[in-house]
Parts: sequence; C-alpha cells; structure tokens
Amino acid sequence: MHKSLIALAGAVCLIATSAAAEDFPSKTVTLMMPYAAGGPGDTLTRIIGQGMSKVLGRQIVVDNTAGAAGTIGSLKVAQSPADGYTLLVMHFGHAANTALYRNLRYDAVNDFEPIGMIAESPMAFVGKKALAANTFQDLVAYVKANRETVTQGHAGVGSASHLCGLLFQSALDTKLAAAAYRGTGPALNDLIGGQFDFMCDQTLNVLQPIRGGLIKAYAVTTKQRLAVAPELPTASEAGLPGFEITVWFGLWAPKGTPKPVIDKLSGALQQALLDPEVKDRLASAGAETVAAQRATPDALRAHLKSEIDKWVPLIRKAGVSAD
Ligand code: MLT
Repeated sequence: MHKSLIALAGAVCLIATSAAAEDFPSKTVTLMMPYAAGGPGDTLTRIIGQGMSKVLGRQIVVDNTAGAAGTIGSLKVAQSPADGYTLLVMHFGHAANTALYRNLRYDAVNDFEPIGMIAESPMAFVGKKALAANTFQDLVAYVKANRETVTQGHAGVGSASHLCGLLFQSALDTKLAAAAYRGTGPALNDLIGGQFDFMCDQTLNVLQPIRGGLIKAYAVTTKQRLAVAPELPTASEAGLPGFEITVWFGLWAPKGTPKPVIDKLSGALQQALLDPEVKDRLASAGAETVAAQRATPDALRAHLKSEIDKWVPLIRKAGVSAD
C-alpha cells in the first residue's frame, strides 16, 4: 500500500508539472536586468525580451533592480518562486562576482537553473569630448601622465566596465580614481556631460553617442576590428597587445524551476535569437547573438563554470574585493 501511494504521488506530481509547463506562460514573464535602465544590459534585455514575447505569446517586462554590480537583482531572482515567471539576464559578472563578493547571499551556480546564452557584446574605450587625448596611444600617455587626477567611470565593482578598467589599469601598472554608477546608462550621461574622463563600456551603449559625436572613441576590445565600426582600432593593435574583453550574457531561472518550463524557455530563446529583427538590432550595436546550440542549459552551465575558473584567479591575483 505504502509503495503504491508513493508511486501515485509521484505520478500526480509529474502530471501536475507537465500540465503547468503545457500552460506556461499563462501570465506576464519578468526579466531581471540588475543594472540601471538605459544601459547596455537593459538594451540587450529589452531586445531579447521582445523577441521571446513574440514566441511565447505573452508580455515580458523588465525589472531593473540595480546596485552592487548586479548582485542585488540576482539575489531577488534566486529568492523568487521557481515557476519560470521571474528570470535573470546577467553577463560574465555572474561568474566574476563569486570572487568579488565574499558575502554573496546566493550561489551563482547552485541557486539558478541555466536556460541558455544570449549574445556577446564588444567593449570600447571612450572619453569625454574635452579630454586632451584623440587616439588610444594619447589616452594611454595621458593616463600615465595624470594618474593622480584621471577619473574612470564604471557600473560598480564587478561590472563589465569595472573589470575592463581593472585590466586596463593593471596593463598600465596604475590605479585610477573611479566614478561609480548603478549602470553605464547613467554613467554615459555624465561622460557626455564631461563629469569624468573616460570609461570602457559595451558598444551596445556607446556606438550611437560615438556616431553622434557626443563622446570620443579610442579603441575596441575585440581581437579584430568591428565590421560596424572599422575606423576604430583594437586596443591590441593600438598599443596593448593581447588586450581583449568581450561581454557575454546568459539567461537563468531560480533553482527548482521544472525542466519542461526550462526547456520551453530555452526553445523560445533559441527562436528569438533567429529573429532577424533581434539579430539586426543587436548587430547594429556591434553585439552578436550566439548560435542556437549555445542557447541551451548545458552550454550555459559549462560556460559559467569555465568563466568562474577564469575570473576567480584573475580577481584574487588583483587583490580586488567588493565587500
Ligand atoms: C556593466 O557591467 O558595466 C553593466 O553591464 C553596465 C550596464 O548594463 O549598465
């Protein structure tokens, strides 16, 4: 009797889970982008959200709970119901923050279910219009000559803009004053206003103001020059050989989200990545959607592990921590 009751309970649970997945989504899905609205992460999240909304036939909204380089919003998702209605869009900071935040209140691997990778964005070094540097070589020389006064903007310790700055400063063997923001959306406004000297930010955010002549552009952080901005040299060719950093983004659900729901979300993500409108809007900002086989739970799980293995020793060696 006892065994058959357990078997019955298991069968009922299985039927309930697959029924829930059948109906999923039956209400609005929230994408958490844990940086301020108007920045590169927010731009990417809204583009992919619109693409997934078309596939799922449900409204998708964005929650910009920002602060502490995305760890506040990430915790909010980790503590959300595991039903597929609250998801996290985050970049490689999800890996780097495991080394930067000693008191992290979630486990970046075990408190989330990976859904899939989304896209990758190059970064670019940009400066205020009044900065007395017109080339990347000028910027390097200017920073070396003014290391006590130069200010570099970023989106908080552990953000992509901060980590690119960390690599730049260690390449120049210097430490610079920082202007920290809740995202590089607000940081860009202040750079345009001349409130600080330069920053390294994702092309998703800075390509348009560069084209509009609102800020100076010095170099991109990719191996090759960008097809959308061939006039910009790579940092590697312009004086820092081997300097490369690309920002990848992934999509996660809270731990315990049923597999049929994860599979449905991964399928919707893969279809959205093939949507010409999604691809074109990201490509026009220099970003690139990943191939469908990388927009899967296994691919994101493996990539996050390799990124944790890469960033943790780098950050420990740099002796940087956020708390
Ligand atoms: C960063 O890591 O610099 C953030 O992605 C910037 C942002 O999205 O606001």
